[in-house]
Amino acid sequence: MIEIKNAKTIDGKRTDRKIPSDQTKIIDASTLTLLPALIDPHVHFRVPGAEHKETWATATDAAVHGGVTTVFDMPNNTPSCITLERLKEKKKIIDGQLKIPIRYGLYLGADQNHLEEIARCKDEIVGVKIYMGSSTGDLLMKDPAALEKAFQIAGENDVLVAVHAEDEDLIQERKRKLSLHSHASDHSIIRNAEVAKRAAALAIELAAKYGVRLYIAHTSTKEELDLVRQAKRQKLKVFAETTPHHMFLTTKLYEKLGTMALVNPPLRDTNEPVWEAIHDGTIDTIGTDHAPHLLEEKRLPYGKAPSGFPSIELYLALLLNAHAHGKISLEQIVRLTHTRPREIFRIKENDDVVLVDLEKTKTVEDAHLRTKAKWSPYHGMTLKGWPKFTILKGRVYEIT
Ligand code: DOR
Ligand code: ZN
Repeated sequence: MIEIKNAKTIDGKRTDRKIPSDQTKIIDASTLTLLPALIDPHVHFRVPGAEHKETWATATDAAVHGGVTTVFDMPNNTPSCITLERLKEKKKIIDGQLKIPIRYGLYLGADQNHLEEIARCKDEIVGVKIYMGSSTGDLLMKDPAALEKAFQIAGENDVLVAVHAEDEDLIQERKRKLSLHSHASDHSIIRNAEVAKRAAALAIELAAKYGVRLYIAHTSTKEELDLVRQAKRQKLKVFAETTPHHMFLTTKLYEKLGTMALVNPPLRDTNEPVWEAIHDGTIDTIGTDHAPHLLEEKRLPYGKAPSGFPSIELYLALLLNAHAHGKISLEQIVRLTHTRPREIFRIKENDDVVLVDLEKTKTVEDAHLRTKAKWSPYHGMTLKGWPKFTILKGRVYEIT
């Protein structure tokens, strides 16, 4: 049995908590605050095919350091996870790498030549991921008829559709017209708000037509969020995720990090629309979009450098730091990182918790990170509020 004594609750009370376990441990939590463990509905743990960037051994260590005990992993692997056979194979490889028994779910990648897999896989997946714009990997739904068919099948089978909502045709058109492709900062101009809006609008239209539960990944613009607001008003089952980088970083980062600041969808000039949508309830969840690439890959010139940031181990500290600065309440953090993901993805309640020290201040150092990629765009930031213990399936992970 794990006994947590005298922990603060998010509403300022005190509580004791007993968690069934084969370990016997008493935690004096008088200086700590108790939260439900975080659910991260959007990670890229790189297996199979990119184990040089991350494995489930390193990623799960990073996850518990971020207070996360449940993750949903994306299908843009090598090879892409687009069939039941690949899904089963991927699961086998993951289970072989796990040292920390994280709770996980997998997305199926929608592929226009394998649409029948959506129904075949429905009981094995958390949802089907549709790339409406290209990103890392070769998953891209190019054919509009196949896109519509994927929504239809998902609707018929009650499968959640998660979309990477960027319009590929518009990306290509803007690349050609603007002839901007030499500086990292061009990325945010090419993949502008219109690119995101056009894809989100189509996804919402198809979700409405086929009664699909639609999860729009990494929303970052006012344009997308206004569409989500409107969809929610119409009582559509449309949910919005944002990311830590769209909450805390902007295009200013290009000056400091160049191509290391590349991510899809890109950084925006302002975080304001995201924060507004957090506060008015339009945004349902935060997904870290933990997407590790090695530093030497990220430092390649624009056009060659991959997009994405490792971030999962800083996830909770970034949110607690925002709380320390009065930007977000603990109730909102719990809603975004636990309650709404549980409702949207229909996850059963469990005993996993995280104990956080709201007073602890620490500076983020790349060298101390657990991710195999060993860097993050948050290097050098001093954050107030850090997790101290993550408890997963009755096991205590102390965070140092
Ligand atoms: O920046 C990104 N990186 N966006 C994505 O959509 C994919 C991800 C990755 O897997 O690297
Ligand atoms: Zn992603």
